[in-house]
Amino acid sequence: MSEQASLSFASRTAPADGVVVVFAEEGRKLSPAAQDLDKKSKGLLSKAANITGFKGKKDQIVDLLAPQGLKFSKIILVGLGKASAYRGEDWLNLGGTVRGLLSGKEAPTAHIFVEAADGKVEPRDVASFALGAELRGYNFKKYKTKSRKNTGEGAESSERTLKKIVIHAADPNAAARAFQPENAIANGVALARDLVNEPANVLGPAEFASRAKALTKLGVRVEVLGPSALRKLGMNALLAVGQGSVRPSHVVVMQWKGAGAKGGAPIAIVGKGVTFDTGGISLKPAAGMEEMKGDMAGAACVVGLMQELAARKAKVNAVGIIGLVENMPSGAAQRPGDVVTAMSGQTIEVLNTDAEGRMVLADCLWYVQNRFKPKAVVNLATLTGAVMVALGKEHAGLFSNNDELSARLIEAGDATGEKLWRLPLGPKYDKMIDSKVADMKNTGGKWGGSISAAQFLQRFIKDGTPWAHLDIAGTAMSSVDSEINRSWGSGFGVRLLDRLISEHYERH
Ligand code: BES
Ligand code: MN
Ligand code: ZN
Repeated sequence: MSEQASLSFASRTAPADGVVVVFAEEGRKLSPAAQDLDKKSKGLLSKAANITGFKGKKDQIVDLLAPQGLKFSKIILVGLGKASAYRGEDWLNLGGTVRGLLSGKEAPTAHIFVEAADGKVEPRDVASFALGAELRGYNFKKYKTKSRKNTGEGAESSERTLKKIVIHAADPNAAARAFQPENAIANGVALARDLVNEPANVLGPAEFASRAKALTKLGVRVEVLGPSALRKLGMNALLAVGQGSVRPSHVVVMQWKGAGAKGGAPIAIVGKGVTFDTGGISLKPAAGMEEMKGDMAGAACVVGLMQELAARKAKVNAVGIIGLVENMPSGAAQRPGDVVTAMSGQTIEVLNTDAEGRMVLADCLWYVQNRFKPKAVVNLATLTGAVMVALGKEHAGLFSNNDELSARLIEAGDATGEKLWRLPLGPKYDKMIDSKVADMKNTGGKWGGSISAAQFLQRFIKDGTPWAHLDIAGTAMSSVDSEINRSWGSGFGVRLLDRLISEHYERH
C-alpha cells in the first residue's frame, strides 16, 4: 500500500555509490565505517565536522554532498551521543530519525552503517533500528494521483524516491534473523494505519470485514457475522447503533491458534470499529467531524495485531473480535431515550446516541467471554474525547479490574513507547450510569466522562475475567508527529499488544 523502499541487510563491505549514512559517538568518536570514509575522502568528513562544530552529540548531523573523489551522492554523519546508554526504544527512534533524512532526492539507494564507535551493535538493536526506519517510511498516498504520474509542479519524479535501503552490520545474517518478527510488526502497524487513514466512503462495515477476511491466507480463522446472525445472537446494543445507516453492521471473529490445544484458553482482543461516527441523532458539530473516519482505530489495531501474530507464527492462542458499524442519523436511527436489551440481557437507556462505542463493545465483550472463556480480555477503543482532556496525546487511558494485567500493559507501553496511564474505576463512578428506567444509561454526566464510559464496559465483564480497556482516542488518530510516525493514523496498540503477548502469553 505505502510503496515502501525495499530493505535488506549486508556485511560491512563498502558500497560503490548512493547515499551513505555513518555514525559517531560523543567526543566525535567516529565509527569504523565513518573513519574509513574519512580516509577515502582525504579528511573531508573531519573537516566538515570541524566547520559545523559536530561533536557526535545525539541528533547532530553533518551533510557532505558529492564528496570529491568519491562516487557517493551524499555522506551523512549522524551523532549517537552515548551508544552504551541506548535502550531498545532508542535504536527504534534512531532508525526513524535516519529514515527521515533520506528523501531519495540525491540517490535511489541508501547505505546505512549501523555501528557505534567500537563497531558493534547487537543484532536485535539493528533490527529495532530497521523497524524504526520501516515505520517512519510509511506514507499513505493511495489517493495521490500526481506523484505517481510524475506530472505537474511539485510532483515527485519517479527516479527521485528512495527505492532501496541497505543496512550494513557486523553480522548481517543475525540482524536479518532478528528482523523477521520486527518485519511482521512493521506490516501489522502499516495495515492498522492503512485502515485508519482510509476514508469512510471506501471503508464501511462490510468493506472493513472483507479486509479482515484476507487474514485467512495467513492461517487465521476468520468468521464474518452479518446482521441476521447478530440479530439471532441478540446483539441489540450493537445493532441499535448501526440501524440508522444503509450499510449493515458486522462483527468479525478472528482466531489464531499458535499455541495449539496445550496453549489453553486464548487471550481476547476486542476493538471498536465505528467506521464513521456522526454522533447519530445526537449529531456532532460539523467542525472536525471528518476525523470520525478514524473511529474504528481499535478494530484496525486488532486486525493489524492478528496479522502480525500469524505472520510471525506467534506461539499464542489469541482471538480478535471487532464490532463494525456506521453511526448515522436517519429516519431509521435510534433516538435519545430509546431502551435496548443488550446480548447480556441488561437494558440500556440511550441518553446520547453519540455515546455509541460502549454499546458496540458491550455486545462484543459479552460474546467473546461467553464463547471463548478467555484468560484475559483487552479492548481498544477511540471511546471518549474526555481522555484527551485528561491525558493529551501522549498516553492512552488504561482502565482495568486487574493489577497484574495493568502492570504488564504499562510495562509493555514503556518498552514500546506506546504509553499508558491508568485511571480509576470504582463503585461511586459506577453509580453515575444508573438509570431511572433501565439497568443503565449510556452516558454518565458532565465529569469523568472517560471513567463512566469504562464503568459502562465493566458492566459487561464477568466476575473473575481479567480485563483492561484502552481508550486510544488521543493516540491512534490525528496523531502527533514522532520519529517513527508521520501518518494520521498511528497504528497505536499493535506494538504494545505484540509486546504484552510475547512477554506474558506466548509459550517459548
Ligand atoms: N468517537 C467518539 C470519541 C472521540 C472523540 C474519539 C474525539 C476521537 C476523537 C465517541 O463516540 C464519542 O462521541 N464520545 C462522546 C461521549 C459523550 C457523548 C458521552 C464524547 O467523548 O464526547
Ligand atoms: Mn460518538
Ligand atoms: Zn465514537
